[in-house]
Amino acid sequence: MRTLRFGIIGAGWPGQQHAKAIAAIPGTELRACSDTNDERLQAFRHEFSPMTTFAEYHELLADGEIDAVIICLPNFLHFPASLAALEAGKHVLCEKPPTLNAAEMKVLRDAAAKRNLVYFFGRQFRFAPALRTAREIISEGKLGTIYRARATWVRSRGIPPGVDSWFTDKKRSGGGALIDIGVHALDSAWFLMGTPRPVSISAKVFRNFAHFVNAPVFNVEDEAHAFIRFANGSIIELETSWAANLTDDTPVGPEWVGRESNNCVLFGTKATLRLRPFTLFEDQNGKLVTVPLQSEYTDNSFEMQLRNFADAIRGDAAPINNAEQAFQLMEMIDGIYASSELGREVPVA
Ligand SMILES: NC(=O)c1ccc[n+]([C@@H]2O[C@H](COP(=O)([O-])OP(=O)(O)OC[C@H]3O[C@@H](n4cnc5c(N)ncnc54)[C@H](O)[C@@H]3O)[C@@H](O)[C@H]2O)c1
Repeated sequence: MRTLRFGIIGAGWPGQQHAKAIAAIPGTELRACSDTNDERLQAFRHEFSPMTTFAEYHELLADGEIDAVIICLPNFLHFPASLAALEAGKHVLCEKPPTLNAAEMKVLRDAAAKRNLVYFFGRQFRFAPALRTAREIISEGKLGTIYRARATWVRSRGIPPGVDSWFTDKKRSGGGALIDIGVHALDSAWFLMGTPRPVSISAKVFRNFAHFVNAPVFNVEDEAHAFIRFANGSIIELETSWAANLTDDTPVGPEWVGRESNNCVLFGTKATLRLRPFTLFEDQNGKLVTVPLQSEYTDNSFEMQLRNFADAIRGDAAPINNAEQAFQLMEMIDGIYASSELGREVPVA
């Protein structure tokens, strides 16, 4: 098995998780890291010992020894860095959200296909133990037909600071709570439903709590709600917030987020499945029975994700977080913002 050499671009928390995954997966090696913030770069070098380091990501892309890059930059750099990497002949794993919009993602999808390179979007939760077990339960037919999902990631006081406050500046983030954490909740539900084709969206986003943080620019939403229809007749109801005056049925999370719930409930004709607490609510001869679930998997989700990315590069597996799904995910994000702006339901292009 040939060793695959990786470059990590962006040395923050996600970059560090990917570096740990590279260290844990046989046949992968951390060749280089790039970050314009020298303090972060040196701390990363100290902990993970990449062979080389660079400030700007363009310098890293010129390293001909690198097979693939993992992009962990602020959202507005996902598109230019992914495209430059593909043009330099590198396979790409880019953190969520894949891009700022579907038009950008379409360019990346086509560029990767044209060059026969793997494009993979970072969504480690698809590989998390409960989601893997949920997929198996669903494929055994235990839920019957899934006709509805409730996707939630809400926080009461969890507006992310980010380096230079980029999260709250639409030009650099593409949006607020929706594109930051809502995208995770939406993708988990959509993935468990088998990624049906989205057809229309009705949504409303809000900005009510900008005064909670001291950000120079705050022109994004802190809360979003959407109702998404799919071609197979199913729906997703999405609820997400960085900040809201949540009620006490939302559990208390880490100190900086206040109350928090990151959950997904899938309603089926035979049973309903909830991720947290992991439970099946099953019809047994007309009686609704509660069945506590446990995943037998213990693997780290970043490691499982990297394993699939590496296998896809070697041609041994299909990429689970593929470019077409990244495109459709961004179509849904675009649709949510468009519907809110127009004040009506919109078709998904
Ligand atoms: N998968 C997850 O669970 C998860 C969690 C957190 C963040 N993310 C995503 O990861 C990305 C980064 O988030 P973050 O919280 O680490 O942000 P951050 O602002 O903390 O880190 C971004 C890093 O990029 C560096 N950078 C900026 N421009 C650069 C350039 N031209 N070349 C090289 N480095 C450059 C910055 O110096 C900074 O260290 C975001 O897109 C975010 O959505 C994903």
